Amino acid sequence: MIKSPLNYTGNKSRLLDQLLPHFPQKINKFVDMCCGGASVGLNTNAKYVMCFDNNKNVIDLLQTLRFFTEKTIVDRVEEFINTFKLSDTFNKGYDIYRKYIQGNNGLKQYNTEGYMKLRTFYNGKSLNTKRDTAVCLFTLLVFCFNNDLRFNSSGKFNMPVGKTDFNESMRKKLKSFKYGITNKDIDFFQNDFNVLKDLDLHRDDFVYIDPPYLITNAVYNESGSKWNEIKETELLSVLSYLDDRGIRFALSNVLKKGDKENTILSSWIRKNKFNIHYINYHYRSSSYNKKDRVTPEEEVLITNYNV
Ligand SMILES: C[S@@+](CC[C@H](N)C(=O)[O-])C[C@H]1O[C@@H](n2cnc3c(N)ncnc32)[C@H](O)[C@@H]1O
Repeated sequence: MIKSPLNYTGNKSRLLDQLLPHFPQKINKFVDMCCGGASVGLNTNAKYVMCFDNNKNVIDLLQTLRFFTEKTIVDRVEEFINTFKLSDTFNKGYDIYRKYIQGNNGLKQYNTEGYMKLRTFYNGKSLNTKRDTAVCLFTLLVFCFNNDLRFNSSGKFNMPVGKTDFNESMRKKLKSFKYGITNKDIDFFQNDFNVLKDLDLHRDDFVYIDPPYLITNAVYNESGSKWNEIKETELLSVLSYLDDRGIRFALSNVLKKGDKENTILSSWIRKNKFNIHYINYHYRSSSYNKKDRVTPEEEVLITNYNV
């Protein structure tokens, strides 16, 4: 499995072993719609993989990580590390930072000032090119809490500083991602899910959709345009459009959480007699908070075909 260095809330890397067996065996063109960190697109076998997300920052970052060599990315991240005086345990060792470590906060105290300066610099969009801006975002991602990508309603990156730095494990993730991308025919596009109606799709193609979930409070619901009943209904009508044309799709979602139910989704499934596959919620991303982990929820994969 190729791990994405983009730790998106709700990322599917831990659920892949449960999702992929439900996908068709032979796929010509695979569409990863609402791709986030692209963990599904990266790990699905198909002749050609198209990843879409409406978040420009995310798509710019994925395109840039594909465009630059691993060495160029590492060199440029290290330039930001030096300029903003962030820790560099990979090259300098851990000992020189020990006196700044309090409790189990790792490198947080040492990096707070430099990280906040870097975040302000990024949010001020002070860089000249899209690719420099993307590497700057990648550096923030490396140093932020949980390596999570999150933007506020004005599109500003708003994660707080984390405990780690550009250590061996993050460099390995980057290496594995670069390897996965280089050996795949994969592209990244910034688009809304409505683009599905305009794509040249055929019966041997396959669409996977992982939208924000209507009844959970994932953080990306805060940024840009909020996910709501109107969007949910619009997405389902696009999927019905695909179904009418014989295009296979699989939709990830949450049908029930505690006493909340996504009735728009459940009545659409019933009406169209689509298949529901239950996914074990215990394997969810560790970035979900405690409350989410103990509230039972029905995570499902909806398909319009039989495997
Ligand atoms: C559940 S996350 C996807 C996680 C992803 N599957 C992964 O493994 O990292 C939902 C994604 O939907 C994207 N999104 C939200 N509204 C969208 C829209 N109208 N069109 C396309 N993508 C959208 C968000 O930017 C976010 O990346």
